[in-house]
Amino acid sequence: GLQEVLEEHKISLRRRCERVTEGSDEPGSRTLLNRIYTDLYITEGQSEEVNTQHEVKQLERASRIQNLHDSPIRCHDIFKALPDQHGAIRVVLTNGVAGVGKTFSVQKFTLDWAEGLENQDVRVVVLLSFRELNLIRGEQHSLLTLLHVFHPTLQKLPAEQLAAHKLLFIFDGLDESRLSLDFNHSRLVSDVTQKSSVDVLLTNLIKGNLLPSALVWITSRPAAANQIPPSCVARVTEVRGFTDAQKEEYFRRRFSDEELSSRIISHIKTSRSLHIMCGIPVFCWITATVLENMLTTEQRGELPKTMTDMYSHFLLVQTRRKKNKYHEGHERSPQELMEADREVLLKLGRLALEHLEKGNIMFYQEDLEQCGLDVTEASVYSGVCTEIFKRESVMFQKAVYCFVHLSIQEFLAAVYMFHCFTSRNTEVMNRFLGEHHTIKSLLGYFRKTSLEDFLKRIMEKSLFSKNGHLDLFARFLHGLSVESNQRLLGGLLGQTENSPETIQRVINNLKEMNTVRISPDRSINIFHCLMEMKDLSVYQEIQQFLKSENRSEKLSEIQCSALAYMLQMSEEVLDELDLQKYNTTAAGRLRLIPAVRNCRKARLESCSLSEISCSSLVLALKSNPSHLTELDLSGNDLKNAGVKKLCGFLQTPLCKLQILRLKCCSLSEISCSSLVLALKSNPSHLTELDLSHNNDLKDAGVKELCGFLQTSLCKLQILRLRDCSLSEISCDSLCLALKSNPSHLTELDLSDNDLKDAGVKELCGFLQTPLCKLQRLRLWNCMLSKISCDSLCSALKSNPSHLTDLDLGWNDLKKSDVQQLQDLVNRLHTGICGVVGIILEERS
Ligand SMILES: *[C@@H]1O[C@H](CO)[C@@H](O)[C@H](O)[C@H]1NC(C)=O
Ligand SMILES: *[C@@H]1O[C@H](CO)[C@@H](O)[C@H](O)[C@H]1NC(C)=O
Ligand SMILES: *[C@@H]1O[C@H](CO)[C@@H](O)[C@H](O)[C@H]1NC(C)=O
Repeated sequence: GLQEVLEEHKISLRRRCERVTEGSDEPGSRTLLNRIYTDLYITEGQSEEVNTQHEVKQLERASRIQNLHDSPIRCHDIFKALPDQHGAIRVVLTNGVAGVGKTFSVQKFTLDWAEGLENQDVRVVVLLSFRELNLIRGEQHSLLTLLHVFHPTLQKLPAEQLAAHKLLFIFDGLDESRLSLDFNHSRLVSDVTQKSSVDVLLTNLIKGNLLPSALVWITSRPAAANQIPPSCVARVTEVRGFTDAQKEEYFRRRFSDEELSSRIISHIKTSRSLHIMCGIPVFCWITATVLENMLTTEQRGELPKTMTDMYSHFLLVQTRRKKNKYHEGHERSPQELMEADREVLLKLGRLALEHLEKGNIMFYQEDLEQCGLDVTEASVYSGVCTEIFKRESVMFQKAVYCFVHLSIQEFLAAVYMFHCFTSRNTEVMNRFLGEHHTIKSLLGYFRKTSLEDFLKRIMEKSLFSKNGHLDLFARFLHGLSVESNQRLLGGLLGQTENSPETIQRVINNLKEMNTVRISPDRSINIFHCLMEMKDLSVYQEIQQFLKSENRSEKLSEIQCSALAYMLQMSEEVLDELDLQKYNTTAAGRLRLIPAVRNCRKARLESCSLSEISCSSLVLALKSNPSHLTELDLSGNDLKNAGVKKLCGFLQTPLCKLQILRLKCCSLSEISCSSLVLALKSNPSHLTELDLSHNNDLKDAGVKELCGFLQTSLCKLQILRLRDCSLSEISCDSLCLALKSNPSHLTELDLSDNDLKDAGVKELCGFLQTPLCKLQRLRLWNCMLSKISCDSLCSALKSNPSHLTDLDLGWNDLKKSDVQQLQDLVNRLHTGICGVVGIILEERS
C-alpha cells in the first residue's frame, strides 16, 4: 500500500541525490555526495547588499563577517524554530551566490531524509528545480499531475492522501526560473486536482492556499529572490559558502595525498583574492583541478597568483583533459591543443559575452545555435560548458546549458572580447561599447585604437554599471593583457604585441582614472585590475602606509581606493574612520567611503558627499549595522534626498547608532519629518542628535522632531538645535514633548535662535518638572533679557538638583540682570543645587 509507495519514493530520491558532480559532468565523474560534502555556512537573515552588489563582492564581504556575528544553522534544521522564535516555519527562502552550494545543501537534506537520518516527521519530500519547471511552463497541470511528471513513483499516491501527510516541496534555483510568478493577481487554487498554469500552482502553494500544511523551501541567487514577497516567507537564510576552516577541510577531503593538499592550502593563502574566492565551493574545485594538475605533472612554471592566472590555467587543463580522452597517444603541448579548440572556445566566449550583458546564466539549444555552437561540440567540452540537464533530458528531450560558474562565463567573455580587439572585430566592440560610428569611420578608429584606449573604455563602461555586473569581466580583461597569460592562451587571444611601455601606460591610466561620477564601491575595482596586471606598487604603498601610522602622507585617489578596500577587509574593526585625517583630494576622500563598513565611528564631515557617494555610503552603512555607534555627516549638503537615503539605514532594526550629527546639512522641515519617521521606527539606541546650523529647519521642523522625542522608547540625552531659525513656538513644542518623556535629556543647545523671553518661559515649564534631569542648557545669543533670568531663577528654585552649566552668553544682559540668578547659584552651589556656572559673556 501507501508505505510501499513512500519507500519506493525514498529509494528513487536517494538514487538521485547520492551522487553529485562538482563543476564538470563528464560521464563517470560523479562522486558520492557524502564523501565530498563539507558543511556550509548558513545563516539566518541576509546581508543588505544582496541585490546591489556583484556576487564576488558579496562574497568578499561575507568572508570577513563570518564568525563575527550571525549564528550558523545546519541545513537539516532550517525548518526548526530557534529557541526564541514562535510559530511554525512554513516557507524558507535560502539565498546564496552562484556556486556557493545551495543545490548541494538541498541534496544533502534530501539524501539524509531519504536515508531515514533526519527530518523524519516529513512524510514526502518533493524535489523540483526551476530548470525542470521551465520546460513545462506552457502546460496546464494540477499539483497532482505536476508531481507525477517529475516523480512518477508518486503516481500511486491518491489525491486525498496528499493533504493528509506532511509534505515538503523544495524548489531549487529560483534565479533560473523563466516562469512569471505574480503573487498579486494569480487565480485562487486550493484543490490539488484543479488544473492551472504552473506559475499559478506555485504561487498558491507558497501563499498557503494549496496544501496549507505543506512546507516549502526555495533556493535562489540573491538578485532573483525578490520575486517572492517577504510576507510569504517565514525565514530567510543565506548560504555563505566555506569559512576558512571549511576551505581547508575541502582540500584535505579531496586529496588523499596530504602533502599535496597542504601545498595547495599554503599556496592559496599567499593570494588574498584566491583565498577569498575559495569561499565558493566551485572555485575550490577549479583551484584544486588546476593546482593538482600543476603540482603532479612535470609542468614547471609559476603557480597562478591572480584570478586571471587561475582561469587561464583552468582552461588549459580542461582542453588537455578532453584531448587526452579523445585523441590518446598524440603528445602535444597545451598551447597546440588550445589552438585546435580555438574555434569552439571563441564561440563559447561569444555566448558568454552576449548573455553576460543581458544577465543570462542559463542557455537553451537555440541560444547555442545562435552563436554557431553545435550542441554535440559543446557537450564534448564538458569541463567548460556543462550539460547539466542529463537526467531530465531523457524525459523532455531538451537540455539546458550553463557555465559551471558565473565567473567562468565572465572569463570566457573577456577572452572573446580580447580576441575581438586583436582581430579588430569592430562590430562586437562597437555594440559592446555602445558607439555609433559610420562603418568607415569605425574601421579607421579601430585600426588605430591602442590597447590602452580599448581597456580604458571597457573600464569606463564597467564603472558605470550600477550593480558591477562587469567588474570581474574588466578584471579578467586587464589580466589577459599580461604577457604570461598571453603566452598561456596563445592563439586564443590572437596576435598581440604589447610592449612594456604599452602595459605601463595601461597601468598609469588605471592609477589616474577619474571617477568623479562613479560610486566609490565601483572604484575599488580599479585597484583589483591593477592587481590582475601584477602591479603591486599601490598595494605595497598602502601596506606601508598602514604600518607607519603616519597619516600626513599625501594619498592619491587610487591609493585611497586601495586603502578603502584593505580597511574594509581587515579582520580588525577600525575604531574611528575620520576622512578629514587623510591627506588627499576631495575625490580621494570620497573613495574611502567603503571603509565605513568596518569601523565603529564614521566621521565624514565636509567631504562634499554627492548623490552617488551618498548612495554608496548608505549601502556601506546598511551592511555595518552592528558595529557603527557614531556617524557624523556634518557640513555635507545632504538635502531631502540624501536624508531620505540615510533613513533607509536608520530604520533598520539592526541599526545601533548612538550618535548622529547632521550639522549644517541643509535640512528642512521635510527632511526632519523623514528623519523622525525613521528614528521612531527604531528609537531606542540614539543618545545624541545634533541638527545645528540647519537654517531651514524652523519651528515646523522641531514640531516634527517632537514626535520622536515624546515616544517612550526615545533615550536621547543630547539634543543640539543651534542656529535653526527657531522661535518661542519651538520652545513650546519641545517643552510639551519633553514633559511627556522627561528623564533622559541631559543637554539641550538652543543657542543662536531668536527665542526671546517668551521662549525661555516655555522652557522653564520643562525645567521645573520633577523628572527633568537637564545638566547643560545653552541659550547663547537668544535675545534674552532680565525677564528670562527671572524665569530661570524661579524654575531652578523648584527643581534645583541637576543643572551644572547654563550658557547665557551674548544676550544683552547686564550684571544686574543676572544678579538674582547668580545669588541663587552661589547659595545653592554650597547646598543642593548642581549649578556650578553660568557663562555670561558681555557683548563687547
Ligand atoms: C503587489 O502588491 C504589493 C503590495 O500591495 C506591491 O508593493 C507590489 O508592487 C505588487 N506587485 C506587482 C507585481 O504588482
Ligand atoms: C600633505 O602631503 C603633502 C605632500 O606630502 C605635504 O606637503 C603636506 O604637508 C601634507 N599636508 C598635511 C596637512 O599633512
Ligand atoms: C610623515 O609623512 C610626511 C609626508 O610624507 C613627512 O613629511 C613627515 O616627515 C612624516 N612624519 C613622520 C613622523 O615620519
